[in-house]
Amino acid sequence: MKMNRRLAWVCRGLMVLATIGSPLLAFQDSRPVNLGNPSTVEDFKAGDASREPYQKATDLLAALQLSPGDWVADVGAGGGYYSMRLADIVGPEGKVFSEDISDSAMRWLNTRVRTFNLRNVEVVKGDSDDPKLPAGRLAAVLIVDSYHHLTNHQAMLEKILHALKPGGCLVVADYSFTEHRSRPRADQLKLHEIDPELARKEIGAAGFEVVKCEDPFVKWKPGVGNTRASATDMWLMVAVRPK
Ligand SMILES: C[S@@+](CC[C@H](N)C(=O)[O-])C[C@H]1O[C@@H](n2cnc3c(N)ncnc32)[C@H](O)[C@@H]1O
Repeated sequence: MKMNRRLAWVCRGLMVLATIGSPLLAFQDSRPVNLGNPSTVEDFKAGDASREPYQKATDLLAALQLSPGDWVADVGAGGGYYSMRLADIVGPEGKVFSEDISDSAMRWLNTRVRTFNLRNVEVVKGDSDDPKLPAGRLAAVLIVDSYHHLTNHQAMLEKILHALKPGGCLVVADYSFTEHRSRPRADQLKLHEIDPELARKEIGAAGFEVVKCEDPFVKWKPGVGNTRASATDMWLMVAVRPK
C-alpha cells in the first residue's frame, strides 16, 4: 500500500514536470537559428547547408586524397565548415589544424569545436605571413575562398610547402570572374576574387608543382545558396610538394 502511494507521487511529480517542461521545450524548438553568431548544432547546420550546392564540398574535399590518420590543415578556416568535414575524414587517429588570423574566426572555430566536440581539431591563430603549422608533417593543406586574402602570399606559401610532407598536397579553391582577371591583384582582392593563372604562377614560384586546375570547378547559378555579392565561378587547383 505504502509502495503504491509512493509510486503515485512519483508519477504525479513526473506529470507536473512534463506540464512545466513542455512549454520550455516548445520555446527551445521555436528558437530561430542564428546564422550570424552560431552557438548551437542547428545554427551551424543551417549555415553549412549551402556548401554542397554552391561549392561542391564533397568533390572539393576528395581532391585532397586524405586517409584516416592523416594530419591536415585548413588555412583561412573562417567558421570551420571544412575543418569539421576534414575531422570526419581523418578520424580520431588523425589531426586537423584549423588556422585563421582573425579574432572573429577564432571565436567561431572554438565554438564549433566545442559544439560538435571535435577532439581531433586544433584551432591555430596564425600571422599574415605564417600559418604556424608543424614542419614536414602534413599530408595536405586546404585553402577555400581565402587564397585571395593572402597579401603575404609568398611567405605563406613557403611555410605551407615546408609544413607538408614531400609528396603532400595543397588544394586551393577560389572565385574569379573572367572579365576581372587582367586587373591588379589588389583590385581582385576588393572583389574577393583571384585569377587562377596568377595563383598558378605564385604557387609554382614557391616551389610547388601544380598538377591540376579545374576552371570552372563550380559554375555560378543564380539562387543556389550563394550569398556572394557578385556572380562568380569557382576554380580549384591541386599542387604538390615535390618529393
Ligand atoms: C571568406 S573567408 C573563408 C573561410 C573558410 N575557408 C570557408 O570556406 O568558409 C576568408 C578567411 O580568410 C582569413 N584570412 C585572411 N587573411 C589570412 C591569412 N593571411 N592567413 C590565414 N587566414 C586569413 C579571414 O580571416 C577569413 O576568415
